[in-house]
Amino acid sequence: FGSSSTHNNHDFLECLTVQLQSSNSATDAIYSPSNATYASLLLTQNLRPGSTTPNKPLLIFTPFYDHEIRAAIHCSKKLGLQIRVRSGGHDYEGLSSTSRNNPFVVVDLRNLRTVTISADEKTAWVQVGATLGQLYHTLAQKSRTLAFTAGVCPTVGVGGHFSGGGYGMMSRKHAIAADNVVDAKVMNADGKIFDRRSMGEDLFWAIRGGGGTSFGIVLAFKVNLVTVPETVTVFNVTRTSEQNATQLVHRWQYIADKVDENLLLRLFLRSVTSPVTGNRTVIASFTTLYLGGVHDLLPLMKQQFPELGLVEKDCTEMSWIESILFFAGLQNQPLDILLNRTTPSTVFFKGKSDYVTEPIPVDGLQGIWRFLHEEAENRAELQFSPYGGVLSSFSESETPFPHRSGNIFMIHYGVMWDSQGNQEAEKHVSWMRRLYGYMAAYVSKSPRAAYFNYRDLDLGINNSGNTSYEQASVWGLKYFKNNFKRLVRVKTKVDPTNFFRNEQSVPSLYSS
Ligand code: FDA
Repeated sequence: FGSSSTHNNHDFLECLTVQLQSSNSATDAIYSPSNATYASLLLTQNLRPGSTTPNKPLLIFTPFYDHEIRAAIHCSKKLGLQIRVRSGGHDYEGLSSTSRNNPFVVVDLRNLRTVTISADEKTAWVQVGATLGQLYHTLAQKSRTLAFTAGVCPTVGVGGHFSGGGYGMMSRKHAIAADNVVDAKVMNADGKIFDRRSMGEDLFWAIRGGGGTSFGIVLAFKVNLVTVPETVTVFNVTRTSEQNATQLVHRWQYIADKVDENLLLRLFLRSVTSPVTGNRTVIASFTTLYLGGVHDLLPLMKQQFPELGLVEKDCTEMSWIESILFFAGLQNQPLDILLNRTTPSTVFFKGKSDYVTEPIPVDGLQGIWRFLHEEAENRAELQFSPYGGVLSSFSESETPFPHRSGNIFMIHYGVMWDSQGNQEAEKHVSWMRRLYGYMAAYVSKSPRAAYFNYRDLDLGINNSGNTSYEQASVWGLKYFKNNFKRLVRVKTKVDPTNFFRNEQSVPSLYSS
């Protein structure tokens, strides 16, 4: 930290302390770099080094109450500092904890994490600092058949996940998390709090897929819960190249978005060394949730995907909450493990996404395998997440999340590595960029669509000051298609001075 940062740091601390003391709030939730807790609070899910090493926050603040968040906004504005809001800290580019631009403070909402369920109304108010695991755990305490449709990783935070989309194993039946939001509480740059009625439908539309980060600080979401059967069925069937994986993956593309919507067959692809040949082989894992019992699932699979050769012993019946543990790789663990909110990562990671509207031909798939073999075993992974089902029944403009009818599946690309240093990072990131280049022929075009929750700064980046509509469109149209224009209009209305901004926030036309 340079001397001006030290200056800012001190001024912010003083301002916030005065504000908190005037409302009789404790001041021990403010962590500066000299505090031992600061380093552990800074650890996030994704370590992302690179040639442009991002800045760390001047301070991390973990408020308990709304008025404390308001105080942080007040001081940030007064001192010209940026705020980065963090709920679960899983941003793919670390934008909730780091910045490439101006001095900033982190407001970490981990202490706002109450989940209030109304079983009669089948709704829940969920504060943004709750994790998905905590939400699922609270639901399981209430009932075996009350559930929610959102992502697979239990440590993901509600604030970023719901506001940016939220795809999970029930999305073909119950859509994404954002589609099930029915109310919200949002604080604006003046510290005022709005609910759905007082914020108006434009802002309420924007925070259901357009990301909260550009528009204000979301404090809580009210969601419609979903009903699941007492018994669901899961399986994870794997096939290597020698076991016909390529043909199966090819065939999967013709059924994945069309099968019964109670069935979600997700596909994970990695490269491993074959124990039989000693050569590298692709391993395809068909990881599946069926909302029903095995005796309904088997005839369905026989009819819709007989090539997989699924048999009863591949399948396990369980409750929905047990399936949450299964897909998180936590099977047979006590339910309370879902309450662990952090598993700070020790590996470095880069992710990207694509949408597929036409099946990829066999030779196209074989080209992907060649890329996977270039990386170390198990370190690179592609996920193919099927769409269709109820996701197709929404129009592209119903929420900012535009990936609806016409998409067969979404691709998630991920690569991990262990060693520090720019050289190592460059090696893996450039591998991914080459793969992404290769994939251009096989994925959506004009725009080449991407999923906002798999944030990717390669798609484009804002200026450190103001950014024009044209410049931001480069990445904005990819995430939001034609909804980007409306997001810019909403932003211009609710945050004209562009107080809430980051490297990929929606620009305000007044400030450009
Ligand atoms: P974080 O706190 O980092 O926030 C992400 C962004 O939202 C930041 O820009 C932040 O400023 C902003 N933000 C956060 N809280 C806010 C608030 N209250 N108000 C306003 N802005 C706020 N996705 C998916 O759809 N399905 C899945 O299964 C998974 N699985 C998964 C696993 C793992 C290991 C990771 C790292 C990520 C995923 N994701 C995912 C992606 C995930 O949905 C995405 O990273 C979310 O934005 C994470 O939300 P957090 O609150 O945890 O992140």
